Amino acid sequence: MDNIRTKTVAANWKMNTSLEEAEKLMDQILTGLPDLSKCNVIIAPPFTHLPMLKMKTKGTPVHTCAQNCHQEISGAFTGEVSVEMLKSLGIEYVIVGHSERRQLFHETNEVIKLKVNAVLGSGLIPIFCCGEPLDIRQSETHNIYVRTQLEESLFHLDAEVIEKIYIAYEPIWAIGTGVTASPEQAQEMHNYIRDQIAVRYDKVVSELTRILYGGSIKADNARLLFSQEDVDGGLVGGASLNAASFIDIVNSAC
Ligand code: PGA
Repeated sequence: MDNIRTKTVAANWKMNTSLEEAEKLMDQILTGLPDLSKCNVIIAPPFTHLPMLKMKTKGTPVHTCAQNCHQEISGAFTGEVSVEMLKSLGIEYVIVGHSERRQLFHETNEVIKLKVNAVLGSGLIPIFCCGEPLDIRQSETHNIYVRTQLEESLFHLDAEVIEKIYIAYEPIWAIGTGVTASPEQAQEMHNYIRDQIAVRYDKVVSELTRILYGGSIKADNARLLFSQEDVDGGLVGGASLNAASFIDIVNSAC
């Protein structure tokens, strides 16, 4: 089934880079990328850089992504950005429910569900993030924790929708810490997530759904992580801000 689930590497630049820096980084990435006929590359810069990204990626196979959106289409929500605005720019993907949004901006599973609905309702594709904090991993309740995130924000969707979205498993203890989940830990959770999809939907749907790993992916650990049966690529934070290291990671997937 791996041939169906094309490997994907997504860059999450978070709140980094001036416009000038982002243009330079994007030029370097575009120059160094390998042939993308067998893998997908998605770039999520800050909102302000999306028009630039859209222009630079025109005519290339690189996909464009926002890091967040509001759940409403429009209205009195000062400072927010709606999916329809992203759609009008031609953006294709939106990261939803990143742990930094959950922890620092208090996004609940319920709000994330509304955002997933908004993204899908506008015809864009959500990259839905889930993953447990350290104390949950230490108490060995991480499976149930992640299952609840899936149940409360995703499992209301129909089967033909769920197989289109991306799930990113990002254990919080591995994000920006330099501590990566071992390939075995990643595979174990990805397999568990796939099993939950099979239970809620069916085996065919679970085999089609793409599950990315995120959390301190680097050029030197990407290949082993991506070689795990249920790991369909990665969501890369820190290492995506350096063109050479991001390109190395993409090479591990292609
Ligand atoms: P990191 O971030 O690669 O810097 O750990 C990953 C993410 O937050 O998506």
